[in-house]
Amino acid sequence: MTSITATRLATILGPWRSQSPAYAALADRIRLVALDGRLAHGTRMPAERDLAAALGLSRTTVAAAYARLRDAGSLESRRGSGSFVSLGTRPAAVAAVDGIALDFTKAAMPAAGPVAACFAAAAGLIGPELSRSGYEITGHPALRGAVAAHFARRGVPTDPEQILVTSGAQHAIALLTRVLATPGDRALIEQPTYPHAIDALQAAKARPVPVPVDVEGGWDLAEAEAAMRDATPSLGYVMPDFQNPTGASLSEDERGRLARAADRHGTVLIADETTMWLDLRRGPRRPLAAYSPAVVTVGGLGKLAWGGLRVGWIRASRSLVARLAQSRTSMDLGTPVFEQLVAVELLARERELVAERRTRLADGLAAMREGLAEQFPQWTVPDPDGGLALWLDCSPWSSSELVLGAREEGLALTAGPRFGLNGAFEGRLRLPFTDSPESIRAAVGALRRAADRHASGPLAEPLVAV
Ligand SMILES: Cc1ncc(COP(=O)(O)O)c(C=O)c1O
Repeated sequence: MTSITATRLATILGPWRSQSPAYAALADRIRLVALDGRLAHGTRMPAERDLAAALGLSRTTVAAAYARLRDAGSLESRRGSGSFVSLGTRPAAVAAVDGIALDFTKAAMPAAGPVAACFAAAAGLIGPELSRSGYEITGHPALRGAVAAHFARRGVPTDPEQILVTSGAQHAIALLTRVLATPGDRALIEQPTYPHAIDALQAAKARPVPVPVDVEGGWDLAEAEAAMRDATPSLGYVMPDFQNPTGASLSEDERGRLARAADRHGTVLIADETTMWLDLRRGPRRPLAAYSPAVVTVGGLGKLAWGGLRVGWIRASRSLVARLAQSRTSMDLGTPVFEQLVAVELLARERELVAERRTRLADGLAAMREGLAEQFPQWTVPDPDGGLALWLDCSPWSSSELVLGAREEGLALTAGPRFGLNGAFEGRLRLPFTDSPESIRAAVGALRRAADRHASGPLAEPLVAV
């Protein structure tokens, strides 16, 4: 069972006050952080008096907030042992979209056109596999070869033995953090970053060292170099292309600079290339792995083809692939062979898939930008070169306020702080443009109505400026 201290909870909650009475605003914020995964189901909450002290509130206010959460089924109190976060019997991701018509919490797209044909082609190839065991811990030789060739085409010669096929890129990140970090190790992480990378580092008990990334300015490389020198993180997690959520990319020069700093200080960089295919107009850049043999690369077909395929990979040294394979056996014994054969077919149609995704994302981005310009003329809306989402400065509203209001309008969103550490990014909202233009227009309309619910006055507390 996990417990959370009052001070830690206060940090996660961030500036939580709104125009609602304090007990209601506090309860709403606790529910939001539970729904978006910052506070896990089953966590034991701090005692009322401790939380009251940490937040500078009366105990009665906290007791009323807890009572409200209990009434809503979000908190369970057990005599003698405390109060526990409850999302019912369903996982947070499901609870988060209950009764929701528009789910914008995931930046995911339906299967690309060629996916069905690739399944059919793989069905024609499965015959000979059926007379074998059907599972290989490191992956099917055909897919390992196809992924190695994909790296070679991009200027990084790769032996198939350097590839480990995984069940999606998230599996790859979790496996790598588990093998590369020992509890207490420091890990460089972008701020903001992909939330499940934070989860993986937390599961590995690594201590995150944040490095700022901005929509316009990209990475603060001087800060990254200083962090590597001073904190000597054993690993770092970066998304060099169309970073999720900012859409920023590292230039060629910056790739070299980052890789050199990592080599100097013994930091193993994990380059997550899941979003590298989502280029609207930037043009190809060399993989981070081209700049240092120590870089470990994660990739996958979730964004290019279909998340439902659950195929990803790791490119690493042969010895690290062997260590990863050994560690994997406690989790699973390999990725299903059929999906790997589908992946081989898909990689052969890379160009076609990239073109299809580009059209879809360009249409989604245009619909999102038009809708926002019309409904929120006061916002400066970014125009990223690619990626999945807009990372918006949503002031004067707080992100959590908008997210809670949007739920009432049938739109599920993830609040800015889910992408950062310690409650940062309450002034930012991630809006994926992966959906159809119609859904995007509907979502922007719902967001406007959510904002109108809070239009009556300024926030009770300043936004966290990051
Ligand atoms: C940056 C990044 N890495 C990894 C993943 C997970 O990919 P997969 O579905 O292959 O596990 C995602 C999915 O959103 C992502 O955005």
